[in-house]
Amino acid sequence: MKIREKFLSLAVPDISDEEKREVTEALDSGWISVGPKVKEFENLFAEYHEVKHAIAMSSCTTALFIAAKVLGVSKGDFVIVPTITWQSTANIVEQLDATPLFCDVDSDTLNINITDIEDHIKNYGSKIKAIIPVHHSGLPADIDEITKISDKHNIPVIYDAAHAVFSSYKNKMIGQYGAMSTFSFYATKNITTGDGGMITTNDDNLAELCRLWSYHGLPKDSWKRYSAENASPHVQSIVPGYKFNLTDIQAALGIAQLKRKDDLLSKRNFLAETYNEFFKYYDWIDTPVFQTEHGKWGNHVYVIKIIDEDIDRDRLMQELRKMNIGTNLHFYPVHKNLYYEKKYPGVKLPVAEWLKERILTLPLCTKYSVSDLEYVRDSLDHIYENRLANKTVFI
Ligand SMILES: Cc1ncc(COP(=O)(O)O)c(C=O)c1O
Repeated sequence: MKIREKFLSLAVPDISDEEKREVTEALDSGWISVGPKVKEFENLFAEYHEVKHAIAMSSCTTALFIAAKVLGVSKGDFVIVPTITWQSTANIVEQLDATPLFCDVDSDTLNINITDIEDHIKNYGSKIKAIIPVHHSGLPADIDEITKISDKHNIPVIYDAAHAVFSSYKNKMIGQYGAMSTFSFYATKNITTGDGGMITTNDDNLAELCRLWSYHGLPKDSWKRYSAENASPHVQSIVPGYKFNLTDIQAALGIAQLKRKDDLLSKRNFLAETYNEFFKYYDWIDTPVFQTEHGKWGNHVYVIKIIDEDIDRDRLMQELRKMNIGTNLHFYPVHKNLYYEKKYPGVKLPVAEWLKERILTLPLCTKYSVSDLEYVRDSLDHIYENRLANKTVFI
């Protein structure tokens, strides 16, 4: 099989002339830090998710940190998280001197296991200060069940919606659920600002606290202090806040991306469906769940499972790399990361530990064409057909 010349990475950003025009406008405006473009982006995002507040942040990681901070997560507390997630979901709990309680995931949806949440609550009760489920790949977690548990035990939920900017549950956009939701605009996400994040909430008090803690503890942001209509340099920190804001240059990218959302979403869905069609009859590959009873997928990442246990997934990744194809894992279980395994050695989560060896994320982004995906399929066929029986693969 002929190897393609250009490396097919997992995803590349889809930047059009519209993004370039918006960014140039920001650059020429005389104000490039947090200012009117950030405000416009927040307003557009709040409108899209039909939520009262959208607070732009420097990343989803800082958004998660601030969300947990304003809920009062602190030393000695416990926070429930899934283990199949990016480490940020658990790292921010550690940063706040609290303890993450890891849950296993459902093997089909890759979302948090509800029984594990209940078991942790039985064991730790009121010491649990928050639950942070992830909408993996953009497929909504079981929000109805999580809400019941949250209401019954009075434990607030922060949804890690890093993948879920396009997702909905029961026909409502995902940002409306829980105490807060946090989104990512990292370079490979469904919409990108290079790096960036957003907190959404319908709670006025939480929104105010998020703004306060994410911007030096100041009750007014810089734009308000320096703009002609609000000129007043006398502003003081009322809490020892962080500095986690987005900039107008980044927000300019976000505005243009958000205006293209319908186009970006339909392309993403089309490509994910194309992969699904390709692999429909493969007995060694499991394709991802697209939709649950109430939740619609936003197709952030396309995660297959290599269910033929004679195939060594890591070797398969290496062989794909030789074919000039980039792949990834969403995710290596957090509790198996060096730091966490050493600190919490007894944690056993069998589904996640099986997935650790079996999942594989294939390239997917709106810049790719059907022929790029065909190349991925043909490469997988080629490698599989040439496999050796003793858990190895070769070309
Ligand atoms: C589930 C999840 N949560 C949080 C994050 C952190 O996002 P960011 O890179 O914007 O900090 C990511 C990043 O990929 C993620 O996948």
